[in-house]
Amino acid sequence: MRVTISQIRQMKQKGDKIAMLTAYDYTTARIVDEVGLPLVLVGDSLGMVILGYETTIPTTMEEMLNHTRAVARGTKQAMVIGDMPFMSYHITTQDALRNAARFIQEGGAQAVKLEGGLNVAEKVRSIVNCGIPVIGHIGLVPQSIHQLGGFKAQGKTLDKAMELIKDAKALEDAGAFAIVLETIPVQLAKIISQKIAIPTIGIGSGAGCDGQVLVINDLLGLSINFIPGHAKQYAKLVDIMSSAIAEYYTEVKTGSFPTEKQSFHMNESILAELKQKLT
Ligand code: KIV
Repeated sequence: MRVTISQIRQMKQKGDKIAMLTAYDYTTARIVDEVGLPLVLVGDSLGMVILGYETTIPTTMEEMLNHTRAVARGTKQAMVIGDMPFMSYHITTQDALRNAARFIQEGGAQAVKLEGGLNVAEKVRSIVNCGIPVIGHIGLVPQSIHQLGGFKAQGKTLDKAMELIKDAKALEDAGAFAIVLETIPVQLAKIISQKIAIPTIGIGSGAGCDGQVLVINDLLGLSINFIPGHAKQYAKLVDIMSSAIAEYYTEVKTGSFPTEKQSFHMNESILAELKQKLT
């Protein structure tokens, strides 16, 4: 049985911190699931860390669904959340419903996430009314990067902080079961977490949130272009991968790979027959 939204809500009530991580492929999802994390997000960060786009904006529904299916196949206990990509929920409520449903029906996800507060509250309500759990996402919302003027902290002024509090309330009222708070001041994240009953999942927003999320490539040290200041690297996979690949390269060039250990032989009599046929 997979983790449910009521278990996630209860975790907040019990003060039990919630860990969420992104995953984009079957193998990584299996590892995250087997470690026991309750929430796995197929983030549209896929576009940047896997597909090499400069922002999350070019990421398409088809790309998201492909990777969501892989993550769903790799998980047994975690709730899989599909991140609705840019413009998949903005134009009409019908679009939002159809695309949210695709994550569940075709992607095998159990929930969806979308960016925005008051401006998307009605769409969140419609999706939830159709029986699809939704996580909101406010603060630094990367799909609006051009509007925000870059990847920078949000909610630092009084007006912006008040707006974010209203956004969080609107998402809660619309039926979201959790909200991602991205790169907002720690004090504001704590106030929001205390003001709403649903869990807040922070990224770059301090320890006062009810849970935390990281992009798995940042955690593993597998990000090449950009490592955000809020990310903690628990490993340096780029270095490990680079030296393993360099060693392989050298061994192929020098003939020390493969050895007998990695080789297979055919029966001597078949070999003799083969040679005879070739003469
Ligand atoms: O796309 C993503 O990975 C995200 C997380 C950073 C919350 O939205």
